[in-house]
Amino acid sequence: MSDLATLEQRAKTELAGCNIEAALRAWNTKYFGKTGEVLAALKAIGSVPHEQRKAYGQDANRIKETLTRAYEDRLAVLKERALNASLTANPLDVTLPGRPVQRGRLHVATQIMRQIYSVFADMGFQVYRTREVEDDLTNFELLNMPPHHPARDMWDTFHTTTPGVILRTHTSPGQIHVMRECCPDPIRVILPGMCYRYEAITTRSEIQFQQVEGLVIGAHVTMADLKGTITAFARRLFGQERQVRIRSSYFPFTEPSIEVDIDWPKDDPNADRLTKGTGWLEIMGAGMVHPVVLRNGGYDPVKFSGFAFGMGLQRITMLKYAIDDIRQFWGNDLRFLRQF
Ligand code: DAH
Repeated sequence: MSDLATLEQRAKTELAGCNIEAALRAWNTKYFGKTGEVLAALKAIGSVPHEQRKAYGQDANRIKETLTRAYEDRLAVLKERALNASLTANPLDVTLPGRPVQRGRLHVATQIMRQIYSVFADMGFQVYRTREVEDDLTNFELLNMPPHHPARDMWDTFHTTTPGVILRTHTSPGQIHVMRECCPDPIRVILPGMCYRYEAITTRSEIQFQQVEGLVIGAHVTMADLKGTITAFARRLFGQERQVRIRSSYFPFTEPSIEVDIDWPKDDPNADRLTKGTGWLEIMGAGMVHPVVLRNGGYDPVKFSGFAFGMGLQRITMLKYAIDDIRQFWGNDLRFLRQF
């Protein structure tokens, strides 16, 4: 009988010391497992002397029930405690409204590119895509720049490990591709795309940037058509009041060659910095397609004439939104991108 009392006491003390479920289960095995002490005490009933047997049996059964209930109570407490701990560690309020899915948007360069497409589409231009990896022949030679021509210095070039294969430095080689495909039909296309130059990266120049080239070829295409097209474009993109200024320039693939400026609103606080005090901003190079280039494209310069132009998309976008650092275009900074 005194053994039973000690057993009960010991089991209760140990139970109170079980602070995690695993310890509790070990306790259960120790007392109620196949070879557990409580079961052993119950089995022992048969060997207790007859006169003590009834009292012993009642006591052993009472202990069994008390301990079983104590075990279940303790288990419930520990489960409750574990649940509370996990709820406070990872509070989850299922009544909160869900987080909105972040919506993407078009990159500012893509937005402006699409505006340019639509302005030129209204004037009957088609979009013609050509390769970004070019050969020296198409990027330079067929555009009237033989090897060692000093004008090549205008384009710092990325060469590949395959001799003569380069990353295009401008979209102008696309002129050769479209002419050779369309000849002898008239042409009215824009050629958008990425260009690459081996240059130091600064606020104004990047090693990759987009250009939009234009090419028109036909029987009576004149400089007046070029001026009208460019003026219409500039006013659609930058505002109907824009003045367009044309200066003479030099490009090997056009003759005569021009550079096109637009005036900048004087009340814009950025005007002085952007125009370096002149009030004029350069937006593109252009000219009448050189007879050598026409011939390289398959067109007879006696029967055909054409104009071409080329502009930097990043530059145009920077002007339109007074963006002061070209590196923003590839910086992936959401604070910048979300403004557009
Ligand atoms: N390809 C020239 C450049 O990257 C831009 C250019 C100038 C293109 C005059 C033209 C053009 O088509 O006629 O600097």
